Formats: sequence, structure tokens, C-alpha cells
Amino acid sequence: MSPTRPKRRPSRTILAEMARLAGEARGRAHAPYSKFRVGAALKTRTGEIVTGCNIENASYGLSMCAERVAVFKAVSEGLGSFDAIAVVTDADRPTPPCGPCRQILWELCGNLTVHLVTLGGRSRTLRLRELLPHPFDERNL
Ligand code: THU
Repeated sequence: MSPTRPKRRPSRTILAEMARLAGEARGRAHAPYSKFRVGAALKTRTGEIVTGCNIENASYGLSMCAERVAVFKAVSEGLGSFDAIAVVTDADRPTPPCGPCRQILWELCGNLTVHLVTLGGRSRTLRLRELLPHPFDERNL
């Protein structure tokens, strides 16, 4: 691929498979306090998919979002160069990542495709840059 050509985005088939895996991960969510169960699936450009679910704690502030569980798992396993994340919830509308997750995703994954899916079948696909248009990152330090 020539350096000037835009990188290919994940196909609909791949995004659907990621949503399926995120849905499975959602089944492992530990969310006894909010009861809001979230699953995520993060994909590398070379096709590895790492999942995560939200994990809450009685000390509520220690709770961790599904997106960050997925990205920390992946980075800790030595993976890098990510191109998409799927997030699955049972909300009425697709659930976008929270602010702290946007920040972490930006720094560790860059301008990902973000595929948001509900169990009810609604979905929205956008880029992380749209969710975090003026990021704070190493260029500001
Ligand atoms: N949560 C996520 O895991 N990801 C999101 O994108 C939004 C919020 C979790 C955090 C907490 O466990 C529960 O959902 C309610 O906020």
C-alpha cells in the first residue's frame, strides 16, 4: 500500500464479528451496582481481537470500563497498532465511551473506528477523532 493511500477501515463483516465477541464479553461483566453491563472488543490491524467487560467495585470509583479493560489487556500482552473497537450494551441508544476511556483510547490506539451496538440492534459507527476532537496528548507536553 502506498503511504499516501488511506488505510482500509474494518469491513462490516469484521465489525459484526467484533460486536458478537463484545456481546460475549458483556456476559462476563461484573456490574452488581449499576447493573449496566458493557462488553468491548478491540482489534489490531493484523486481526487479533481482545475483549473486555466492565468490572465494578464496592468502592465505586475503582470500577473499570469495558473499553479500558480491553485496551489494558491488549497492551499488557504486547499488542499494539489497533484499528477498531466495538462496544455493546443493552441501552436504548448506542453507548459511546466515557471521557476517560476516550483519552486512554486516543493515546494507546489513535483514531480508531468505534462501533457502538445495542442488544436491540441499533448501531453507530464513527471515528474516535469525532468523539475527542481536540485531544490532549504528548504533543501538548
Ligand atoms: N461503562 C463502561 O464500561 N463503558 C462505557 O462506555 C460507559 C460506562 C461502565 C462503567 C460502569 O461500570 C457502568 O458502565 C455504569 O457507568
